[in-house]
Amino acid sequence: MPTTMEKIVSLCKRRGFVFPSSEIYGGLNGFWDYGPLGVELKRNIKEAWWRDMVTRHDDLTAPPGAPEAFEMTGLDCSIIMHPQVWKCSGHFDLFHDFMVDCRESRKRYRHDQLKGRWVEAKGQQLFIAAEDGESLEEDLKRQAMKYFNLRGKDEGLLQWQGEIVSATGVQDLGRILAPHAKEPGTLTEPREFNLMFKTIVGALSGEDASAFLRPETAQGIFVNFKNVLDSTRIRLPFGIAQIGKSFRNEITPRNFTFRSREFEQMEIEFFCHPAQSQDWYRYWRDRRFRWYTELGLAEDRLRLREHEPSELSHYSCGTADIEYAFPFLAADDFGELEGVAHRGDFDLRSHMEGKLDPHSKPDLRVETSEDGKPKWRGSGKDLSYRDDLTGEKYVPHVIEPSAGADRATLAFLCEAYHEDEAPDEKGELQSRVVMRLHPRLAPIKAAVLPLVKKDGMPEVAQEIYRRLKKRFSVFYDEKAAIGRRYRRQDEVGTPFCLTVDGETLRDQTVTIRDRDSLQQDRVPVEECESWLLARLG
Ligand code: GAP
Repeated sequence: MPTTMEKIVSLCKRRGFVFPSSEIYGGLNGFWDYGPLGVELKRNIKEAWWRDMVTRHDDLTAPPGAPEAFEMTGLDCSIIMHPQVWKCSGHFDLFHDFMVDCRESRKRYRHDQLKGRWVEAKGQQLFIAAEDGESLEEDLKRQAMKYFNLRGKDEGLLQWQGEIVSATGVQDLGRILAPHAKEPGTLTEPREFNLMFKTIVGALSGEDASAFLRPETAQGIFVNFKNVLDSTRIRLPFGIAQIGKSFRNEITPRNFTFRSREFEQMEIEFFCHPAQSQDWYRYWRDRRFRWYTELGLAEDRLRLREHEPSELSHYSCGTADIEYAFPFLAADDFGELEGVAHRGDFDLRSHMEGKLDPHSKPDLRVETSEDGKPKWRGSGKDLSYRDDLTGEKYVPHVIEPSAGADRATLAFLCEAYHEDEAPDEKGELQSRVVMRLHPRLAPIKAAVLPLVKKDGMPEVAQEIYRRLKKRFSVFYDEKAAIGRRYRRQDEVGTPFCLTVDGETLRDQTVTIRDRDSLQQDRVPVEECESWLLARLG
């Protein structure tokens, strides 16, 4: 029986949502392509984010929960930036993961993603490790049974000790049985691995010409803070939004698009007075959580998790992750969809004065080399803000809601996937797969279907299709029995099917079938456009 995740991945391939990148050459690990329906879905998600956060934002009225009214604006920065940006941001020094290699299987793992449990059997105590995931417990059991050469009936001989924990806490590597290894002690010491992709700018090679593909869109916003201030009449508090590609050379890309090497982010840097920053942090944390529920993610599969003080970035006074119970995770486990971080003045001051030492809390001093000079020089440009009403000059604090467009797309796909039964044209119940996507996100908003391919029905249906197509993404289909056509639309999440039948020819009405309730309304042809508009927002 395939798992839900396997069914979702297979539907994505079969119906053109997501394909492995360069698949005819065997694919490339960590890279994905969005197909004809996937591109529409992802664009709708980005468009919903941009509209809700930027274009539809009312600059004049304080939204519920916000300390006051604020402005929102946008940017679209280059992917390759001056290398000094990444030195001052801290990515050059600090943006790394620890990895371990298995000398036996030649596989590479992110150290923190190896989970395991101590077990004792036949007088030997070992830490059995497996890759974190939906079947973690099963994998650990299978591996222990295999290693100790036990049959199913001897399972009771395994004496498990303690809970499942990360392998990072196990000091003695010699006692870890790695996944797919026959003997313990095959893992290497953890090694650091910088996640930034390096590239060469221009014809010259060598260190001076090397640059990086951005690992986040955020820094483009910080380095343009002064440009935005100088080119607009914007006043604090305000937010700058950006959507764009980011690249990270992840050690273990996995779980479909969840951890990719090329992905898109939707980030806001919100600049405010330091005294108000805690209130703004709470506002953005709650506002961003609501955005997902408004677009259909169930609250019981979403979680807002405040970081423990030990988890916080050195400069951060608060971070919350918005997490979703992705089906590839173990029960009760959640994966990050978006992080909302209070970043203080770390970024603006680093780009102004030179990279700050993140450990020099609370005042943050410029990190120096052995010669006492700044380790990485800042731009020297004044990135502070002068309030023209009060005369106060200060470096703003920043709240950063940072979302992933691909993770959001994956979460909406997972949430939408349902299997149920619907009656066919003879009234008999047939099983169906239905993607219950929010109408704002659905790739196709409505399908226009002549009941049969004769009696003038296709001509009327095509006329309706052409009229609606000027406004919405609609699809025309006259092939196969009507029940089968409905099911094809259900499977890709089309919320409404308009059917032209014998009655249409007599009274100029069509039936509109609702994907979720299966209710059929009779609507005059003339009103179809406004009917859809009212439901699509
Ligand atoms: N500027 C802050 C920042 O980039 P992050 O938590 O590293 O923070 C923000 O990334 C979001 O970007 C994540 O919550 C996730 O949605 C998305 N993201 C990060 N790494 C990703 C990856 N390898 N694949 C897909 N999405 C990723």
